[in-house]
Formats: sequence, C-alpha cells, structure tokens
Amino acid sequence: MAIVLQEPSRTFSEYLLIPGYSSAEARPENVSLKTPITKFKKGEEPAITMNIPLVSAVMQAVSDDHMAVALAKEGGVAFIYGSQSIESQANMVRKVKSYKAGFVTSDCNLKPDQTLKDVLYLKERTGHSTIAITEDGTANGKLMGIVTSKDYRVSRLDADTKISEFMTPMDKLVYGKEGITLSEANDIIWDNKVNQLPIVDDEMHLKSLVFRKDYDSHKSNPNELLDANKSYIVGAGINTRDFKERVPALVEAGVDVMTIDSSEGYSEWQAITLKWIRDNYGDTVKVGAGNVVDKEGFDFLVEHGADFVKIGIGGGSICITREQKGIGRGQASAVLEVAKARDEYYEKTGIYVPICSDGGIVHDYHMTLALAMGADFIMLGRYFARFDESPSARIMVNGNYMKEYWGEGSARARNWQRYDLGGDAKLKFEEGVDSYVPYAGSLHDNVKLSLDKVKSTMCNCGVLSIKQLQAEAKLTLVSATSIVEGGAHDVVLKDNSVATVRR
Ligand code: IMP
Repeated sequence: MAIVLQEPSRTFSEYLLIPGYSSAEARPENVSLKTPITKFKKGEEPAITMNIPLVSAVMQAVSDDHMAVALAKEGGVAFIYGSQSIESQANMVRKVKSYKAGFVTSDCNLKPDQTLKDVLYLKERTGHSTIAITEDGTANGKLMGIVTSKDYRVSRLDADTKISEFMTPMDKLVYGKEGITLSEANDIIWDNKVNQLPIVDDEMHLKSLVFRKDYDSHKSNPNELLDANKSYIVGAGINTRDFKERVPALVEAGVDVMTIDSSEGYSEWQAITLKWIRDNYGDTVKVGAGNVVDKEGFDFLVEHGADFVKIGIGGGSICITREQKGIGRGQASAVLEVAKARDEYYEKTGIYVPICSDGGIVHDYHMTLALAMGADFIMLGRYFARFDESPSARIMVNGNYMKEYWGEGSARARNWQRYDLGGDAKLKFEEGVDSYVPYAGSLHDNVKLSLDKVKSTMCNCGVLSIKQLQAEAKLTLVSATSIVEGGAHDVVLKDNSVATVRR
C-alpha cells in the first residue's frame, strides 16, 4: 500500500517566528551570519565558511562570472551555470579567480562601423553607459575608442551615424597600461578628470576598465569571501552526464566548490557522479548534491559523499514540476525534515553536513524562516535575477524595467541534463517557464537590505548566530485568517490609484 503522510506539505508563508527574550546585546551589529557550506568533523573547521548565508542558483539567467564576483564581494557564493559548454563555464570560473578588484572586464563592446542605434540599444539593454569600441567588437579586442553619454546628443545625431564619427578616439583617450595598481589607476582618473580608464596591453588590446565610482567601494567590502590567495571564492554546477570531462576542467580553472544540479537528486546517477569524484580527487574537491526533500534522500547523498545537500523540488518561482509531474513537497516541510536528518547524522557520526534550502524565497523574511527551520544557507534564483549583475537582459515592459528570468527546465535553457533519467539527450516536456521579474537595481543594496531584515529578526528572537537561531527559534503555523491580519488591513491605502480596503 502507498504511504500517505498525514501532515500537509507546508511552505514558508504558513509560518511565523515568535520573538524570544532580547538582551541589550541583541543588536544587528553583533549578529554573525557566517555559515558553513562544506561538511566538517566535530571540532574541525569547514573548508569553506561563507560570511552570509546566500548562494545564487545554477541558472543561465542568474549565475555567470559577474554575479560570482558581485556575490563574493558580499560574502556569498555564486554557482556558475552548467548548461553551457565546458570550455565557456571553465572560462567564467577562470575570470572570477583572476579578477582583480576594481579592474572589470568590459561587458559592453561594439565595433567602430556600428551605429548610434546600436549604442542606444546596448545602453537600454544593460543599463551601462560606457561602451568600449574595439576592432572586432569583443571585450579584449584592439581598442579603437570609447563611447560614453558625453560623446553624443541623441537630438543632434542621426541614429545611423557610425560610431567612428562620434566616439572618443585613441589619440584623445586617457588609458592605462596593464600592470598598474588600482590606486595608480585611480590617480590617473582624478588627474585627468575622467570617469573611467581603459587598461590596455602592449599591443593595445583592451584588458579591463577601471571606474572612478568603484574605487571607494573596493576599499569597503568587509564581508568579501576570499581564498588563501586573495581570489574570490566561486562555485559551479555540474551534471550527471559529462562530469568526467567537466569536473577536471572546472578544477583546473580553480573552482572552489561544485554542486550536482538536478531537479531530483535521490538517484543512482548522483551516487555514480559522487563516487567518481571521490575516487579521482578524494576529499580535495568539494561537491554538493541534490535536490531532495526528505530524510531518505539526505541520507543517501551523504552516504555517497556529498559535501552538502540541497533541498527543494517544485517550489522555485519558475518551476512547473509539480503541475507537470505531480512530484515535490512544500519547502518548509522539506527543510524541517532534512534538518532533523542532518542533526541525527551529526549526532551519530560527528560529521556535520550543511543543508541548503533551494528555491521558493518570495519575501525577505522567508530567508530567516528557512534558516530558523535548519537551513545552513539558501539558494535563490528569482531574487538575484532582478539585479544589475545577473546575465539576463533588462527590458522595458509596459513602462517598467524588467529582467528576463527563465527556468533551466524551460525550452529556452535547453538543459536536458538536469531532468534526464538516462534516456535520449533532449527535453521531452518543459518543467520551467520563461518570464520577467521586476528590475531591482544593484545586488549590493538589495542584499544589504534583506540581510538587515534577517539580522533584525534574529535580534527579536534574541539570537546572534545562525546556529543559535536554528537551536532556539520558536515557530508557529499561521491560519488563513491570521495571514490576512499580517498585511495592512481595514484601512484605505493612500498610494493606490483605486482606494482598496484590505480585509
Ligand atoms: P527561485 O529562487 O524560487 O526562483 O528558485 C530557483 C530554483 O528553482 C533553482 O535553484 C532550481 O533549483 C530551481 N529551478 C531552476 N530552473 C527550474 C525549472 O525550469 N523548473 C523547476 N525548477 C527550476
């Protein structure tokens, strides 16, 4: 007979935290959000401890090298998407590992024979106003000039005017030579009253750009997550098909931690992948596995050597797995059960295997709830897709800026490896949608605000660390009626064009 769990599958919005006693010490500046990402033995330190409990999803619309640098600056880790060629994923990892703070690879590049129309399109799409003009239109091509908003007035120039006619050409451009320090670059910027400085090599190929506005921010990233060589820590997604080629390439590129990215991880495919990694690299290579939603799934992946376990099936914002296949579990129920399994495993073996709640975070307070329910860290897709640093295009939709956000199980991503069960190499039906999310500005500002809220709630609960929150949180289920009470109600909201009474 089938087993029917009597407890309903619950999600974050069905819970609230009950505040605990807050001493005078319970202030946000005293809260630590440090958290382990890889397993460790009792009394030992984990190989990687993050400074904030956030990682970005293994998705084309979320995690590339730009996202990885931006998130590592804040203290978290991006898992660069695996649904691309091995070579291009390894290149992204390499870019993060060789990133020098303040020297950014130019991500807006055109050729001199392109037109003002191309400039305006690129500016609209990316939100960036500095465009490098290179011979071949690539980020490392021979530099021919720069275009910024100062170089053209849209009302005075025909949209078909060639860039070569209005760009700032090399003989008028201030540039720096590869090898100069950030502070030297900054001096050149100030001495010449420019806003950005292209850095070129001896053959005049563009290497990077230094921006005036970035200098101060690079001096103040107290949480940045660095390895022993002072490079940013970076993660990458792998699959259970081409791991024998992908893993060595990523390791060679310097990846710090990987995760097997699959919609359903309680499978022999994951065991085979983990075994191969352990046989070939022992414990030197760090790899998480998932996704699972119960104790059996957790125990299975840990037994086969996972460094952390990812939880979540069907709760992602772009996910239609539950509708398509009828599998999944409410994210809160899944996290609570797996956290219990993790604690039991620790009790039994003295080995702590961190768990990651993946997907379904809608409000900032869901982050606090996920941690309180036992998650050591949280993976987010929709949240990060909205920021400047995500790889997707920024588009104007009905008068509002949006960013594109599509699931790895959508036809657009063509990521059949994530869903494949050993059959032929194609996606048979979609498990994700292609969508827009409201553009929300910079990652730094948003992450700071979200984590300020998390810290503030932790103070209300009288705890100063994630460990303490997990141990001492008191949660309550909320009834449908009390959910209504939780928002503004029985008032006429002033900023709505149509007055609404929320009841
Ligand atoms: P979000 O933070 O709610 O947007 O969820 C992101 C998570 O959804 C990812 O980390 C994946 O685990 C999952 N995911 C990504 N693409 C798909 C898809 O196409 N279908 C189902 N789940 C997906």
